[in-house]
Amino acid sequence: MFKLSKKLQSLPPYLFLEIDKAKRIARAQGRDIIDLGIGDPDQPTPAHIIEKLYHAAQDPATHKYALGQGMPVLRGAIADWYHRRFGVGLNPENEVLPLIGSKEGIAHFPLAFLNQGDYSLVPDPCYPPYKGGTILAGGKPYLMPLRESNAFLPDFKKIPADIRKKAKLIFINYPNNPTSAVAGVDFFKSVVEFAKKNNLIVVSDLAYSETAYDGYSPQSLLEVDGAREVSIEFHSLSKIYNMTGWRAGWACGNAQLLAALAKVKSNIDSGIFSAIQFAAVAALEGPQQHLDSMCQLYQERRDVLAAGLRSLGWELTVPKATFYMWVKVPKKMGSIKFASVLLEKANIVATPGVGFGSYGEGYFRMALTVPKERIKEAIGRLKKIA
Ligand SMILES: Cc1ncc(COP(=O)(O)O)c(C=O)c1O
Repeated sequence: MFKLSKKLQSLPPYLFLEIDKAKRIARAQGRDIIDLGIGDPDQPTPAHIIEKLYHAAQDPATHKYALGQGMPVLRGAIADWYHRRFGVGLNPENEVLPLIGSKEGIAHFPLAFLNQGDYSLVPDPCYPPYKGGTILAGGKPYLMPLRESNAFLPDFKKIPADIRKKAKLIFINYPNNPTSAVAGVDFFKSVVEFAKKNNLIVVSDLAYSETAYDGYSPQSLLEVDGAREVSIEFHSLSKIYNMTGWRAGWACGNAQLLAALAKVKSNIDSGIFSAIQFAAVAALEGPQQHLDSMCQLYQERRDVLAAGLRSLGWELTVPKATFYMWVKVPKKMGSIKFASVLLEKANIVATPGVGFGSYGEGYFRMALTVPKERIKEAIGRLKKIA
């Protein structure tokens, strides 16, 4: 038998893979599963982006290694998009770094700055790679509880002085997965201030900035004065353009932080397929009308799901952004047990909150990535077992 490294042994199994396995077994048994588990948009990538990929892929020049730090035309398109969207000016030469999806960059970033035993300050519950990337880099995650009583924001005052000294990174993610909480400039200012006081690098994950409702428009950490001195922000085409499978994202912000991440990457990958880079330019620079209808669609689903769950007496906050609903487990049982009851008795997949961290216990997450009719069907099934 091969012995796994201690680092790998200390990583929990990747939550979504486990859920996927249970789902596949259920489907193989011929059951009609409603999947409200993983957050993967059900709508297609807009046609003009696919067209661009198709044409770009005909050119043999795109078939070669895409070495370097992303094509200048893509770095320029990202900088322009940031400027249009947030009013933040970025130098495409050294303040933008394309990634093979933002997960890749998020998970690799700790390798650039953590030494053995250094801490990352990680929200809990959270998107799993903040912890996983820290552990794989030899670091230790220090968990900052996200409690409903504090609007799912971390409370910096509760972080002990010795941990602050040994910490190098702090992760934040608003709009937040899994709680769907949002945060504005005031919170971002407090993060920057805290980071400067404690010599921390802020890692902001903005993957859900374009999935927002009721006229709400999420902001970038980089809008805050001085943020660029200490921060790197990760973003992605995945959720904006329904491109999760394409693997295209980026990091932007402080040039030194980006250069360090680029150095890590140069030892690990060989860039994004050039045809995808051209398609990403078409996405960022092309028509953006689909965004309104996309948000409208999620908003309608959100309203149906929220009303349905509330009619069962289940507790939740209606999300202003992201396509997730963070719901309190309505029975006296753990979230994993509850999720398995939903799968066994109602053929519904939901994600147990504890899978995002121990402070996620007591909740489960449902994604708005299935049609309204299926959500109504899910509510009907839940009524029968509630
Ligand atoms: C909070 C958050 N960040 C980043 C990502 C990764 O996005 P991608 O790697 O597709 O760019 C996800 C994906 O679900 C996410 O939920």
